[in-house]
Amino acid sequence: MGVPLMVDRGDKEGQVEAIHRPVLADEVVEYLGCRRGGVFVDLTIGEGGHAERMLESSPDVFVIGVDWDEEILERARRRLERFKARLALVRDNFVNIAEILEDLDMKEVDGILLDLGPSLFHFRSQRGFSFQEDTPLDMRMDKRRPLTAAQIVNTWPLDRLRKIIRFYGDERWATRIVKAIGERRLKGGIRTTRELADLVSETIPKRYHPEKIHPATKTFLALRIAVNEELKNLKEVLEKAPFCLRKGGRLAVISFHSLEHRIIKEVFGKLSKDCICPPWFPQCVCGGNRKVIELVTRSPVVPSEQEVEANPRARSAQMRVAERV
Ligand SMILES: C[S@@+](CC[C@H](N)C(=O)[O-])C[C@H]1O[C@@H](n2cnc3c(N)ncnc32)[C@H](O)[C@@H]1O
Repeated sequence: MGVPLMVDRGDKEGQVEAIHRPVLADEVVEYLGCRRGGVFVDLTIGEGGHAERMLESSPDVFVIGVDWDEEILERARRRLERFKARLALVRDNFVNIAEILEDLDMKEVDGILLDLGPSLFHFRSQRGFSFQEDTPLDMRMDKRRPLTAAQIVNTWPLDRLRKIIRFYGDERWATRIVKAIGERRLKGGIRTTRELADLVSETIPKRYHPEKIHPATKTFLALRIAVNEELKNLKEVLEKAPFCLRKGGRLAVISFHSLEHRIIKEVFGKLSKDCICPPWFPQCVCGGNRKVIELVTRSPVVPSEQEVEANPRARSAQMRVAERV
């Protein structure tokens, strides 16, 4: 998506050449307290960039790495081969965190990391995430999931499609784009990334084309969020993960766009509220308002100028950290 390819050599034997560069990696190690050792869950291990930094920070760190993408998980496995005695890899949706830990005979851990969105690897994967190459319009991070972007574009009710592009993509031209998609459906539909990118480009008047990004960027973002149910999964995992932490354990979440930031603020806000029952009540009855976490970061941690210069994808990153009470 217009982001330059970052190459970050994984291990010394050169078995894996990582495409994705981890964002805020020093800050993750610092805030999660990895140097003290313990069990940490990287719920979005991707190519293993953050996990590698955690494992390097102390010989007493054990990492449980989760990802629902089989291909990328294999890359993490190869990259982290030298740490295999201190690493467990699991292919699953991160919303199943409690079941994942249960299967590993673990109840509570010392830290959890979520680094949201796709990896740069996905944009190079010929799976429809990028319009730089002409590939089938797929966009699934987990290939076992049944729904593809092509199905959404070609079969979903047009009003539902308009809402997705308008609200997930924040695209003011959503109505026009969807009208053009409707007309294209009558001629056989849209099958590839280039077909969709060209249609969006032709639909938005030239003088309104954004200066720095491709005119189809927002439509592609919206479809990716819908295909992978990114917002629903995020809300669900945020509501479950704090309960998998030991007292004093920390959850760090790195997010990249305003819809994600908003969900994290809402859930963290809800879980960090004090009990509102009056002190003379015999027992707490407010249920949902029991304080589960304390916010560690009052305002989000953002990358330094040097990091953004070295890795432009980091520009929009924000990290929020909460601690189990
Ligand atoms: C930004 S990348 C993580 C990059 C990683 N921190 C690194 O340093 O290489 C996010 C990863 O999360 C995975 N992911 C996204 N949603 C997921 C979900 N619901 N369940 C499991 N994995 C998910 C993606 O497949 C992707 O590999």
